[in-house]
Amino acid sequence: MILVTGGAGFIGANFVLDWLATRDEPVVNLDALTYAGNRENLASLEGDARHVFVHGDICDRALIDRLLAEHQPRAIVHFAAESHVDRSIHGPGEFMRTNVEGTFTLLEAARAHWQGLEGEAKATFRFHHVSTDEVYGSLGPLDPAFTETKTYEPNSPYSASKAASDHLVRAWHHTYGLPVTTSNCSNNYGPYHFPEKLIPLIIANALAGKPLPVYGDGQQIRDWLYVTDHCSAIRAILDAGTPGEVYNVGGWNEKPNIDIVKTLCALLDELKPDPAGSYSRLITYVADRPGHDRRYAIDARKIERELGWRPAETFDTGIRKTVAWYLAHQDWVAHVQSGAYREWVEKNYTAR
Ligand code: NAD
Ligand code: DAU
Repeated sequence: MILVTGGAGFIGANFVLDWLATRDEPVVNLDALTYAGNRENLASLEGDARHVFVHGDICDRALIDRLLAEHQPRAIVHFAAESHVDRSIHGPGEFMRTNVEGTFTLLEAARAHWQGLEGEAKATFRFHHVSTDEVYGSLGPLDPAFTETKTYEPNSPYSASKAASDHLVRAWHHTYGLPVTTSNCSNNYGPYHFPEKLIPLIIANALAGKPLPVYGDGQQIRDWLYVTDHCSAIRAILDAGTPGEVYNVGGWNEKPNIDIVKTLCALLDELKPDPAGSYSRLITYVADRPGHDRRYAIDARKIERELGWRPAETFDTGIRKTVAWYLAHQDWVAHVQSGAYREWVEKNYTAR
């Protein structure tokens, strides 16, 4: 079996659902159920004995030691993190705790466990660290896309905490020989994306007739990847990745934010027309994010060359599926828009 951390969040839940749909190998899913973790994401696994959910914190060493001893996973896939850049600007403390101390705690537990293994079990054990393209910093309009050898230039508390975690993972391989792999992925989108992030926030606000907030001039560029393509990339790395190696994962889909917002408005106009007119009337430019990175772009040629991975979705197919999913899951959106969610929206947008 495999141990997944953060498997009740956006990408983690998609990964667990995808894994159990494509592989017949059980998953132990360790998640602290922060505001971003939601057991509803895993509701379709209710009663499936291949999924063992553990409510707990990756900073709890005794718990991780117990899980490793009890379940003897052949791999750890580490998603758990604080993931929202704007939240890291308002309060970086939790990012340092989970992303840095949490990764350190997991690495130490994994090292102790792995050192006690023998033969085939020791040779095939893997620790896969899920990271982000944001560690590489911001690109100018003509700069080449990020390769795996790009210098680290993290600019936000979030990306700095992820960069720190990447460095720990690298060092645990270099010093102790722990068989780690790391993936640095671009912006994901798709089902179960928490509506604090651009795409689900725009869909939710549009359907509620609320302003669609575009930071700054809206010309910042992100490289979008449909979430199940990220899941298949991680599976490919687990299957055939080389310990100690880093793989960049991206969708070859660079888009300015304002284009994303306009595309979402057009799709909603088509799929759920608003009698008041086009949703684009709600687009509202607001104050920029402090330190806002201008452009990210991933060069995903290494993972294609070495592991044969390519995204299956184009942006057009992925974004249409995503809008359709949100229209069909309005109850899911309503459930996550709790009191805590409303407090966050007030904190981030009212004073802008
Ligand atoms: P998310 O915020 O939706 O989910 C994070 C999950 O981790 C939640 O279920 C939460 O409860 C859990 N968690 C948080 N702190 C924890 C702790 N101390 N112990 C145990 N569980 C804890 O995040 P996401 O968007 O699904 O991102 C998952 C991973 O992928 C993160 O490491 C993130 O840095 C990385 N990543 C995300 C993207 C993206 O576009 N969302 C892109 C590249 C990389
Ligand atoms: O690049 C990978 C990263 O992508 C991940 O590591 C992060 O975990 C993930 O949250 C995401 O970070 P971004 O900051 O790029 O995502 P977000 O959805 O918050 O914002 C996308 C872009 O849209 C960014 O340029 C900021 C802008 N934006 C965002 C929000 C929430 C707006 O213009 N308005 C908004 O209201």
